[in-house]
Amino acid sequence: MSSLHEQIESLRTSFHQELKGASSVKDLDSLKTKYLGKKGSVQTLMQELRHCSSEERPVFGQVINDLKEEITSHCTHTLDRLQREELAHRIREESLDPTLPGKRGFLGRSHPIHQMMDKVLTILSGMGFSIQYGPDVDTEHYNFGGLNFAPDHPARDMQDTFHLNEGFLLRTHTSNVQVHAIESFTPPIRMVAPGRCFRNEDISARSHVFFHQVEGFYIDKGVSFADLLSTMESFLDQLFGIKVETRFRPSYFPFVEPGMEVDVRCTACKGSGCRLCKHSGWLEILGAGMIHPNVLKNGKIDPEVYSGYAWGMGIERLVILQTGIPDIRLFTQNDLRFLSQFS
Ligand code: PHE
Repeated sequence: MSSLHEQIESLRTSFHQELKGASSVKDLDSLKTKYLGKKGSVQTLMQELRHCSSEERPVFGQVINDLKEEITSHCTHTLDRLQREELAHRIREESLDPTLPGKRGFLGRSHPIHQMMDKVLTILSGMGFSIQYGPDVDTEHYNFGGLNFAPDHPARDMQDTFHLNEGFLLRTHTSNVQVHAIESFTPPIRMVAPGRCFRNEDISARSHVFFHQVEGFYIDKGVSFADLLSTMESFLDQLFGIKVETRFRPSYFPFVEPGMEVDVRCTACKGSGCRLCKHSGWLEILGAGMIHPNVLKNGKIDPEVYSGYAWGMGIERLVILQTGIPDIRLFTQNDLRFLSQFS
C-alpha cells in the first residue's frame, strides 16, 4: 500500500484534474460531494490517520486539513465563476434586449380615395354645403331625363351606361342627386353629394368602369356665375393648400347653361409642360355651370325666381393629380404595397 503522503498527493492531483473538467455548477456540486462529503475522499484519508504513529498523526492531520482547505477554496471560487457564467448565458438567451428595434403593429388606414373624399368634404362642409347621399342604382329619370338629357342623347347609350332591369341603371355620375334634391327640398339648397359612379368603358390605365365623384350645387335667389367662379377658386385653393392658377373653358353638359370645364396650372411642372398635363401646362379638374332652367322646372322650382350653380369632379383624378399615380387600376387592386404609401 502506498504511503499516506503519496495518497494525499495523488488525491490533490486528481482533484485538480477533475476540477479542470468541471464545466457546470452541477459538475462542481458532484465534485464537492466526491471530495468533501461525509463519505468523500478527504474524509477517507482522515480515517487513514488511525494507522499513523502518535508523532505522525498531528503532522499528517495538518497536511490533510490543508488539502481540505485548498479543495474547499478552489471549489468556492470555481462555483462562483460558473454561477456567474451560467447567469450571463441565461440573460443572453432568455431575456429581452432593449436595444433591438421594436416590432410595429400594422395599423389600418383609410383608402386613398376615401382620404381624398374626406378632405374634399371637410373643405366643402366648412364652406356651408351639407352632405347628401344618393342611390348608386337609380332610374333613367334621375340619371338622365331630369337632367335635361334628350331622349336620344348618346350618353344614354348601352356603350356608356350599365342598364339594369325595368328602367333601372347604375348611375353614371353623382348629378342624379341634384334631381333628387330639387324634387325633395325647397331652396335655398346647398349640398355636396359624394359617391360611386359606373360607366361601361374598357378598363385601362386612364379609365375604369367604377370611380368616385363629388357633386356640389347651390340653388337660391340671385345665385350668379360670379358666385360659381369664386366658390371654385376658394375650394381649389383650400384643396391644393396654395393659391392655384385656374382657367375656365366653355364646355357642354345638358344640365348646365352656360357650362364649363375648370383647369388648374399643372401641379407637377407648374405650367412648363410634362407628362401629367400632356405638355399643356394645365390639368382639367372639374365640370361646372349654371343649372339649366329645364332642370329647375322639372323639380317645380321657378327659374324666373331661382338660379343655381353645380359642379362635379372625379376623386380618382384628384388623387392622381396630387400624387402622380400612373394607373387608375391601382385603386381597386388592394395591393398593400400601394395602399400603405398613403398615411
Ligand atoms: N356630371 C358631370 C360629369 O360626370 C360633371 C358635372 C357636374 C358637370 C355638374 C357640370 C355640372 O362629367
